Formats: sequence, C-alpha cells, structure tokens
Amino acid sequence: MYKLGLIGYPIQHSLSPWIHERLLQKAELQGEYCLFEITPEDDFKEKVLELKEKQLDGFNVTVPYKEKIIPYLNDMDDIAKEMQAVNTVVNENGRWVGYNTDGIGYVRSLENAYPDLFEHLNRKIMILGAGGAARGIYYALTKFGFAQIDIANRTQEKAEDIAKLGKDNTKTKIFTIEEASRHLDEYDLIIQTTSIGMKSVDLKPIIQLNRLNPETIMSDIVYQPIKTQILQDAQRLGARILLGHTMLLYQAQYAFEIWTGMCPDVKEMEHELLAVMEGR
Ligand code: ATR
Repeated sequence: MYKLGLIGYPIQHSLSPWIHERLLQKAELQGEYCLFEITPEDDFKEKVLELKEKQLDGFNVTVPYKEKIIPYLNDMDDIAKEMQAVNTVVNENGRWVGYNTDGIGYVRSLENAYPDLFEHLNRKIMILGAGGAARGIYYALTKFGFAQIDIANRTQEKAEDIAKLGKDNTKTKIFTIEEASRHLDEYDLIIQTTSIGMKSVDLKPIIQLNRLNPETIMSDIVYQPIKTQILQDAQRLGARILLGHTMLLYQAQYAFEIWTGMCPDVKEMEHELLAVMEGR
C-alpha cells in the first residue's frame, strides 16, 4: 500500500492526485495520494515533522516550498543539487532523498511527441524565460547533448546564470525577448516557460511570431488555458505544437518511477487528463 502525497500552497486544485491515482491503477499497485496543504501562516518545521511521522513512501513538493524543504532532506540527487530546488521526495528506509523531475519530465514529453527532433543533436533551441522551470529544462536538454540552446528573458542576468550550467557541452546566446523575435526563424524548437499566457497572468503571447518558421516546434509549459494563445497562433502559422499538460504528466511519471520503480505508459492518459482539465 503506497502512501504518497503533495505539499505546497495553494494545492486544492492540483491535478496530481488524479494523475498519481491513475498511475497506481495502471501499475496495478494499491495506494493513495493525499494533499497536505501548508499555509504561509503554518509553522513549516512543525508541519514537516508531522509529515515525517506519517511515514509516506514519497511526496511531491510544489510552490512555495521547493527550496524550503531542502534542509529536511538526508540526500539529494545531482540534478536537484544543481537546481537547488526539489519537487519529489522519496523515503528510503526513513531517509528522505530529494529529486527534481521537471527537466527530465519535459524532455520525456518532447521525445514522446516529436521523436524526430532527437535524431540530430545539432538542433537549434530557444528557451523563453529564465525561471526555475527554464533552468530545469535547459539543464536536461544540455545533458541530453543538444549543442545550441539560446535563452531570451526580460532579466538578462538570470539567463546568464542558467547558461553557466551548460558551459562544457552547449553553446548559448542570451537575447532580449525583442531580439529573440527577430531571430525566431532560426530555431527548430521554441520553449515558452514564462508565466505569460497563463489564465491568471496575461493571456497575450510574450513574443511576436511574425518570423516563425512553419518547420519549428512551438512548446509552452503553461497548461491553463490548455492551448495558450502563443500555441494557437503558432499552429495557425503552420508550426507543430506541444501542449503544456504533457510535461505535467511525464514529470509525474518520473516521480512515480522514483517512488515505485515502475514506469507506466502515460500516452493514453494525455487525453484523459485533458478531459479532467476541461471538466474543471
Ligand atoms: P517558474 O518556476 O514557473 O519558472 P519563475 O521562477 O517565477 O517561475 O519564473 C518566471 C519567468 O517568467 C521568468 O523568466 C520571468 O522573467 P524575469 O526573470 O525577468 O522575472 C518571466 N516573467 C514573468 N512575468 C513576466 C512579464 N510580465 N514579462 C516578461 N517575463 C515575465
């Protein structure tokens, strides 16, 4: 009987319980995935100690605790150390070990949708944004061996900081968003990682797509709305797209694998998850 869960705030509308309960079903494992909301008013340390007593097999960590959980861990994998952010914890005989599944989850979602992209590593990739998600994705793509990954961000220093992660095997140019718009036609893959496009933030796309090449794959990690404006526009211009909820699914698959050692196929869950999201 697996005891799994999520800490964060706010998490009442999280899709993770649905995803992990479905993964348990697919793997034919008994278990449950519960929400443990920790509010900003709560004593974080006290709540974490309570959680330790529950002897969960593993749990996810979301905003705003991905860094705050680190002092309570016994160990971290190399990616989580490099990111200094943890979104998955596994209980190994009472020892808590932290992982960050964002980057690998994203790469899995991309590989599943567009395996042809992985046939050559000389692809040109542009990441829009330089926050936590961009960092994870950049790192995973450099580890995979992609040779050119450029970054465009409003705050240049944050992009420069991410580029340090790839110094050994990846070339990276840093752009402003406006500069990036003038070079868009050079890229095989563009990954939108900023919060722009999100329902609650700003529905308007972050970048002008006039120069988008129809051969380009446009990916957005925002999944509310399901198909963001930038993806709608890119699709209208003939580009192939990758919807944000797929990353959510594949990073959950990787977390589930860390907890249980099993890796259920999530392809058919893509449509099921869309239906769940549409129903909310
Ligand atoms: P996450 O962990 O989801 O990546 P984050 O770390 O808060 O979230 O990063 C948010 C990203 O969205 C950053 O790249 C941020 O740009 P800055 O680094 O300049 O802050 C970007 N972003 C947020 N609001 C933006 C806006 N109005 N215009 C341009 N970029 C914006």
